[in-house]
Amino acid sequence: MKKTILTGIRPTGNLHLGHYFGATKSWVKLQDEYECFFEVADVQALTDNFNNPEKIRKNVYELTIDLLSVGIDPHKAHLFIQSKIPEIAELTIFYSNLVTMARLYRNPTVKTEIAQKKTLFGNDGESVTYGFVGYPISQAADITALGGTIVPVGEDQLPLIEQCREIVRKFNTIYGVTLQEPEYLLSKTPRIKGLDGKDKMGKSLGNALYLNDDSETVTKKIMNAITDPNKIKKDDPANPEICMVYYYHQLIENPNLETVYTECKAGSRGCVACKKELITKIEQFLTPIRQKRKYYEDHQDEVINILNQGTEEARIRAQETMKQVKASMKIDY
Ligand code: TRP
Repeated sequence: MKKTILTGIRPTGNLHLGHYFGATKSWVKLQDEYECFFEVADVQALTDNFNNPEKIRKNVYELTIDLLSVGIDPHKAHLFIQSKIPEIAELTIFYSNLVTMARLYRNPTVKTEIAQKKTLFGNDGESVTYGFVGYPISQAADITALGGTIVPVGEDQLPLIEQCREIVRKFNTIYGVTLQEPEYLLSKTPRIKGLDGKDKMGKSLGNALYLNDDSETVTKKIMNAITDPNKIKKDDPANPEICMVYYYHQLIENPNLETVYTECKAGSRGCVACKKELITKIEQFLTPIRQKRKYYEDHQDEVINILNQGTEEARIRAQETMKQVKASMKIDY
């Protein structure tokens, strides 16, 4: 039997190159080796977007189309919506008895996110809700409800997987061995740099290139990408190691990479020409993704069917888990 993979993504915006190279590119490969459940984590997205439900609803469909466009195949993997699996919410409540408030506040991911909120919204703590602080519990329910034993994630998510493992151990100790501890599968390229050279490409940072950007936007963004600041004239030698354009040539696997490197170093390659070459490569990369996106935009019913089907399959799993959980907890009346 194939091992089960569960991973999720919050529907808060379209996918950008950071998501693609950091996560979803490898998900496409994993579909062939594992039983994969990919969760559109709308409930988790609502923990800090509860006052903006339209945004989350719209992005559930946008994200699904993005995922299908990069090659998530509904015949291989199950693509489902978190809120349509009530067992996850139920399990979250049972798990919440097993986690102390102190432990939640100590979770490094939660801690960092709370600190970010405080800088954004002031120090009064008003913006930190019970639901938000508790989202690691809900994420543990996502993973275990679906019987996920392997969880592909980036580095920032490791404390959440660790917390899930603790919950599983505590559950098994108190109620008898019922659940399996998941393992993480760390992304090889966890953090993709932004066009501005910042360490992370992010929507809120305004430095992202989206998979659904049109040609004009791609050109504009690449033309503005950060290069070696010491290169002033077209034929100055430069350092590709600190150039975002070279960095993206690498990511996109330009077969001409060595030439790009040596010419840049030698000063025989101007930045404008180098950027134009990158634009061509990115356009080639985006063309099939755009074609698929166009197909799904024109066939919205199909997108809804894919989600319904994936959700049904996921729900069967979650119901099986719930039966065992309730028996162990002696609430199987
Ligand atoms: N917290 C993850 C993120 O922000 C998304 C997510 C939700 C997730 N549920 C999950 C990841 C379960 C792994 C497993 O990216």
